[in-house]
Amino acid sequence: MICVIGGAGYIGSHCVKRLLERDHKVVTLDNLEAGHRAAIVGGEFVQGDYTDRQTLDTLFTSYPIECVMHFAAYASVAESMTDPAKFYRLNVVGGYTLLEAMRAHRIPYLIFSSSAATYGEPRQIPIPEDHPQQPTNAYGETKRAFEQMLRWYDVAFGLRSVSLRYFNAAGADPEGQLGEDHHPETHLIPLVLLTALGKRPVLKIFGTDYDTPDGTAIRDYIHVTDLADAHILAAESLKGGAPTTAYNLGNGLGYSVREVVRTAEEVVGHPIPQEEAPRRAGDPARLVASADRAKRELGWQPQYADLRTIIETAWRWHSTHPDGYGDRL
Ligand SMILES: NC(=O)c1ccc[n+]([C@@H]2O[C@H](COP(=O)([O-])OP(=O)(O)OC[C@H]3O[C@@H](n4cnc5c(N)ncnc54)[C@H](O)[C@@H]3O)[C@@H](O)[C@H]2O)c1
Repeated sequence: MICVIGGAGYIGSHCVKRLLERDHKVVTLDNLEAGHRAAIVGGEFVQGDYTDRQTLDTLFTSYPIECVMHFAAYASVAESMTDPAKFYRLNVVGGYTLLEAMRAHRIPYLIFSSSAATYGEPRQIPIPEDHPQQPTNAYGETKRAFEQMLRWYDVAFGLRSVSLRYFNAAGADPEGQLGEDHHPETHLIPLVLLTALGKRPVLKIFGTDYDTPDGTAIRDYIHVTDLADAHILAAESLKGGAPTTAYNLGNGLGYSVREVVRTAEEVVGHPIPQEEAPRRAGDPARLVASADRAKRELGWQPQYADLRTIIETAWRWHSTHPDGYGDRL
């Protein structure tokens, strides 16, 4: 059985759905602080906080869990710069509580949601896994700290793990059942589509003077269902004896902010109000992954890599769920 912590959130909920489709038994642990009950499409559900050891002890004695997929973290880069304590408390101290409980209950495998933010300012593009990890914000630093804990928990205790460093998760369940509903929303594609729906007045384009072909920042967008598939492959690889490691998950293709907006306008069929704004501090010009290792070693093959497909699936969700899951109005 697989325990999905944070399975009511955006990426975790897509992963739960995919696991169930592949006949895995799943228990989701989520405190619903940021997630949505309606996003859990099946399996068992326990509402609780993973930073609470007793909750974990009860969960781990109640279900025959072999692998934990850990999605539950604070993830706002901007907030991590004004309140790093909050990020260390959940992402690192909470992570420690989780690892200690896994150790006590002899749960052998963990898949961790890490981030491209662990790399900091890129020195080469596309970014390979052995690129130096020098985060430029506290969020990325907490993700890196937990990755390092994982390394030593394997060396000393034999708890094996895969850290998956996502670039920009995007898109929605191709069947239209699940989508992205963050409060506040900070990700580009939902912001563009919520503006297209008239839910937001205007899309701000931060930085139009980068050293890129159209002057706007370039990011690597990877479909959330493709991320889910990588989790399943990573869990299978650990079960097959693979060592603790980390993989980048991205497209290897970068798209500029203007390309995203233009493609979204084609998908929605009308212009989207937009306004140019100065660059935000700490935003690099380009962040693009090399995901060759995940493809080679895990056999991962993204199926929804095309930007238009990513935006079409996201639009199907937003246009049919203009208020998201409708539980935070
Ligand atoms: N979205 C992205 O583009 C992206 C990119 C890189 C890395 N990540 C990482 O992926 C993970 C998932 O991202 P997401 O966008 O799905 O986030 P999300 O906020 O939608 O999901 C996180 C889930 O964890 C739950 N949670 C939070 N604290 C909890 C606690 N103490 N106990 C139990 N549950 C708790 C929330 O209720 C929510 O359902 C995060 O760790 C994030 O750092 C995301």
